[in-house]
Amino acid sequence: MTSPEPAAAARPDLAPDTIVVETGRPDRADGASVNPPIDLSSTFISSGDIESSPYAYARFDTPAWTPFEEALAQLEHAALPGLVFGSGLAAISAVIGLVPAGGTLIIPTHSYQGALASAAQIADRQGFALNTVDIADTEAVIAALDKAAAKGAPASAGEGEPGAASAPAGDAAPAGDAADAGVGGSGEGPGMLWIESPTNPMLEVADVPELIAAAKERGFRVCVDNTFATPLLQTPLDLGADIVVHSVTKYLAGHSDVVLGAALTSSDDLRERLHTERSMRGAIAGPFEVWLALRGLRTLAVRLDRAQANAQAIAERLAAHPAVVETRYPGLPNDPGHARAKAQMNGFGAIIAFTVDTAEKATAIAEAVRLWTPATSLGGVESLIERRRRHPSEPESVPEGLLRLSVGIENLDDLWTDLAAALG
Ligand SMILES: Cc1ncc(COP(=O)(O)O)c(C=O)c1O
Repeated sequence: MTSPEPAAAARPDLAPDTIVVETGRPDRADGASVNPPIDLSSTFISSGDIESSPYAYARFDTPAWTPFEEALAQLEHAALPGLVFGSGLAAISAVIGLVPAGGTLIIPTHSYQGALASAAQIADRQGFALNTVDIADTEAVIAALDKAAAKGAPASAGEGEPGAASAPAGDAAPAGDAADAGVGGSGEGPGMLWIESPTNPMLEVADVPELIAAAKERGFRVCVDNTFATPLLQTPLDLGADIVVHSVTKYLAGHSDVVLGAALTSSDDLRERLHTERSMRGAIAGPFEVWLALRGLRTLAVRLDRAQANAQAIAERLAAHPAVVETRYPGLPNDPGHARAKAQMNGFGAIIAFTVDTAEKATAIAEAVRLWTPATSLGGVESLIERRRRHPSEPESVPEGLLRLSVGIENLDDLWTDLAAALG
């Protein structure tokens, strides 16, 4: 298929809260739809050279994805269209697969636990080192970068080495030469720095500009999981990150009715390799899910405004509550991440972590709420509460009594009355 056209022209004349409403719509013409249609076709007319056909087979690219991929690129300031994946974790795994054999992946200790588990598996399979760090401790991250850089860049990983992609068997070849598009190869640098900020579930805030600069100076690739912040609060590609990933499942889609992921980059080479990974592993998104995500994106700014205002007030009330041992929310003036978040984000997000003194008390609170929903996940319009250590894979450094709140858009007083009664 043809190389992707550059993403729809950036709109520096429009604010992001206008872009979410305006972007990804069909061209204006009398009688045209205001919204893109749901294109369910699995195959597309392509009579000649398959490389020159914009769409050929829906595992590679489909018009069902294009408006949303363009919209994400505009919001994240990517020079190329985004890539949607069947889930956030599929996008994450594709990106982690870029770490070369012999290299190092430096990843926050408190990253989303699925990312950590996936990283461990891929590191094992592909033969790179995994180093977990406290991402809020800039000196420690830089020391880890220096240590990994001192090992030197890995040697070229050619065909047959771990992670080298092999040619697909199927109806049609995906875009790009699969052998070239696999991980490894020369010029890979010493590895990748993974940044999640704020972290899930501890709400630590990384010094994102400083860490990206330090990693790039040392030749590392940098990927930022921007799920918690969304492009409305920070745009890491502007700071030099190579790739941004999202669990679209969360704020971007926003209604807890879609599982979807995305990766964004301005590098032709990285996009090509991630595109090949998506096409060959087949972790693709369904047309309806992508249509729903674009529909949800329309209200991202108003949802986030309301959820953040609720979160700020609830965090303040929790911090003053006698049953609460600690409240982490970057919007609290005495939160360790407050100054950084204020300097580098356009808002503090709508996730809170608070700790009570035992696992039993935390469980009792999650069972006692009536308006808050005890459920995993985050970023939907409805408020969710979860004791994170109920997941066996959550790191032991996450307190047993920690409850993560995904604050939704309900009435603030109703939310507080319910939570206060459960805490009571
Ligand atoms: C920060 C973060 N990144 C990625 C993911 C994974 O996304 P998905 O569930 O869409 O695969 C999650 C899921 O909770 C998450 O919280």
